[in-house]
Amino acid sequence: MPKVTFLNKQGRVAVDCHEGETLLQAGLRQGVPLPYGCGAGVCSTCVARARPGTVENAWADAPGAQNLKHDKGECLLCQSLVTDDCEILVPGKIDLAQTLADTPAHYRARLHDVAVVAPDVATFQLSLEGQADYTAGQYFLIRLEGMQGYRPYSMTDFQREAQTLNFVIKRIPNGRFSDEIFSNGVSEAKVDVFGPMGLATFDPSDPQESRDLVCLVGGSGIAGIMSVLDRAVSVNHFESHRLLMVFGVRRREDFFFLDELRRVKESAPDNVSIHLAVSEEGSEEVDALSDFPLHQGFVHEVAEGLGDGVFENRLAFLGGPPAMLTGSLALLLGAGVPVSDIRYDRFG
Ligand SMILES: Cc1cc2nc3c(=O)[nH]c(=O)nc-3n(C[C@H](O)[C@H](O)[C@H](O)COP(=O)(O)OP(=O)(O)OC[C@H]3O[C@@H](n4cnc5c(N)ncnc54)[C@H](O)[C@@H]3O)c2cc1C
Ligand code: FES
Repeated sequence: MPKVTFLNKQGRVAVDCHEGETLLQAGLRQGVPLPYGCGAGVCSTCVARARPGTVENAWADAPGAQNLKHDKGECLLCQSLVTDDCEILVPGKIDLAQTLADTPAHYRARLHDVAVVAPDVATFQLSLEGQADYTAGQYFLIRLEGMQGYRPYSMTDFQREAQTLNFVIKRIPNGRFSDEIFSNGVSEAKVDVFGPMGLATFDPSDPQESRDLVCLVGGSGIAGIMSVLDRAVSVNHFESHRLLMVFGVRRREDFFFLDELRRVKESAPDNVSIHLAVSEEGSEEVDALSDFPLHQGFVHEVAEGLGDGVFENRLAFLGGPPAMLTGSLALLLGAGVPVSDIRYDRFG
C-alpha cells in the first residue's frame, strides 16, 4: 500500500493510501486537515503539488483542473491517485500538526426508495453497511458501481448513528448519475460512498451557533438546509431563536418538501417565517399555494423585499444554483452580515 507524505513549512504527516482511493480521501480518512470544498473535481479548493509524474490524474477534464499549472506539479487532491510512495506539498496555512476530530470513511451501501417528488426532483435513500454520525448540513460522496467518479449529495435530515441516509436529487441534463435515476429508472443499486464531508454545518450545541438563522435556498439546494432545520427543530431551537427562510423554484409545481417545512413552522409559529418564491410566473398567478406567503421573483430579490435589518445578527445558510448564491451573497454582505456568518456549498 503506497505511503503518502503531506508536507509544508509547518510539518509533515504520512498516511496509507488504499488502491483506487484519492489523496484527499486517504488524508481525511486518517485525520489530516486537508483543504477541500466539493470533493469531486469542481471547486479547485484542494490544489496541492506533487513531483511531476508521481500522481495519476483520475479525471483530466475536471472543471476544477482547468487552471492547474502542470509544469509546477499542481494537482487536485480529490482527483489524484497514486501507486507508489510520494510526497505532496500542501498550502502553508494548513496546520499538519492538527488532527481532524471527525473523520470520514468509506462505506458500501445500497441505493433504494427512489421517489419523484416534483418535476425533475427525486428523493432516494442509502442503506449503509455500518453506521455513520454526521453534522447537520454535511454531504456524502456517492459512486455508482461501474461509473467513474464520485458525486456529492447532501443529507436532508439529521440523525445520529445513521444506517439509512436520505437525499434529494435534481435531474441534470445528460448527467450520468442523474440519468441513471431518472431516465434509466434505477430503483436499487450498489454504491460506494465516502463521508461525511462538508463545512457548511450547524451545531446548536455550540454556544457560538445559538443564534437566529436566515436560510436562502433555491431548488435542490434546499437539501443540506433541511438537515440544518431538522437539527434545529430536534433541540427546539426556534422556541428561543428566529428563522427567516426564502425557498425559491421556477414554477409552482416545482415545490417539494412543503410538508417538512410546515413541521418546522409548527415547531414555533411565532418565530419561524418561511416565504416561497417562484421566478417564472406572472405575479397575478402568485397567490396562496400553501400556508406560506408566495412571492414572485428570485430568492435574493424576495429576501431583499422583506425589509431593512432583517438579516442582522443572523447565521446564514445558502443553497442553490450559482446565480442564486451570487445574488444572495451580495445581498447578505451588503446588509453587513460578516463572511464568517455565511455558510454554503457550491453545487456547480
Ligand atoms: C457539496 C455539494 C453538495 C451537493 N448536494 C446536492 C444535493 O443534495 N442534491 C442535488 O441534486 N445536487 C447536489 N449537488 C450537485 C450534484 O453533486 C451534481 O448535480 C452531480 O454531481 C451531477 O452528477 P451527474 O452524474 O448527474 O452529472 P455529470 O455531469 O455526468 O457528472 C458531474 C459530476 O460527476 C463527477 N464526475 C463526472 N465525470 C467524472 C470522471 N470522469 N471522473 C471523476 N468524477 C467525475 C464529478 O463530481 C462531476 O461534477 C451537490 C454538489 C456539491 C458540490
Ligand atoms: S475539493 Fe477538489 S476540486 Fe473541489
